[in-house]
Amino acid sequence: MERIVSLGARSYPLYIERGALRCLSPRVNLARKVLLVTDEGVPESLRTLVLSQCGQGFLEVLPMGEDSKSFSACERLCARMLRENFTRKDLVLALGGGVIGDLAGFAASIYMRGIDFVNLPTTTLSQIDSSVGGKTAINFCGVKNIVGAFHQPRAVFLDADALASLPERHFVNGLAEALKMGLICDPEILALFEKEDWRSHVEEIITRAVLAKADVVEADETEQGERKCLNFGHTIGHGIEAAGGLHGLLHGECVALGLLYFLEDEALKSRTLAILRRLGLPTRADVDPEKVFAALTHDKKGDATGVSVVVVDRPGHYLFRKMTYDELRARVFAGVDVP
Ligand code: GLY
Repeated sequence: MERIVSLGARSYPLYIERGALRCLSPRVNLARKVLLVTDEGVPESLRTLVLSQCGQGFLEVLPMGEDSKSFSACERLCARMLRENFTRKDLVLALGGGVIGDLAGFAASIYMRGIDFVNLPTTTLSQIDSSVGGKTAINFCGVKNIVGAFHQPRAVFLDADALASLPERHFVNGLAEALKMGLICDPEILALFEKEDWRSHVEEIITRAVLAKADVVEADETEQGERKCLNFGHTIGHGIEAAGGLHGLLHGECVALGLLYFLEDEALKSRTLAILRRLGLPTRADVDPEKVFAALTHDKKGDATGVSVVVVDRPGHYLFRKMTYDELRARVFAGVDVP
């Protein structure tokens, strides 16, 4: 399937098909210098598959994890491009999860004031969410994604084969973002998760979620308004993530928990809890609420008076609500009433 994300001059195709990574060309012009950015967790076979299609490919393999979203990693990529005499006509390929996409996209956005990049996401999280929409960023001074740019990819390849070696925990982690899309825009995703054989519907779940995300991005490319709905589950979720530190829960796991705080319909909350349990996602966070609240007040989503949060009041329907920090604090401390 090919779906164009329509953003005027910045429009690009999403290719959603098994085996898509095997035939990047002619969909992408690889007859130029290509910097392939990946991490140690991505199977070597995938690296080789992609690199073998590049006329002049240069490989950068970064350590796995959030620490690679740093100025020093970005400097390493820019230095490599400079050393290899990359020009504005050359290309960055991001092969990996959200960390690699965000970092490589950011390096591509600043090298020579912007060169092409293409996303080749290899995790459920990046296929469903981070590879589409042009948000690129690194972390700085302990604040996640605080330095970044909107820089749309030239193309995104969603290849279910690339997920084959993903560990179960990471596979399920990314599905939390699909659950989020189901809750805010596409209740059919909830119904798919509720099927006994939900695993055999994962490709459909990923496709529906990413298409719904593309719709949101088209409506509001630079998050002036409606795109903020994608932050559903992320306000307290980010707080839980930051409070847990490096060895805490994964991003999607924190989002899964974060959703529960802002579901304003008991029946829908029960359905969501049942889905989380079925997927093996957490329903309780063992973190100090004081730390969660402290972390989320540093989140860039708020202003002096409070935070605009996304609440869901029925399947596929969200609304924005401004909450003072006192109200938010009360919600964090109340926790989630898990039956
Ligand atoms: N991950 C949320 C967004 O792309 O806006």
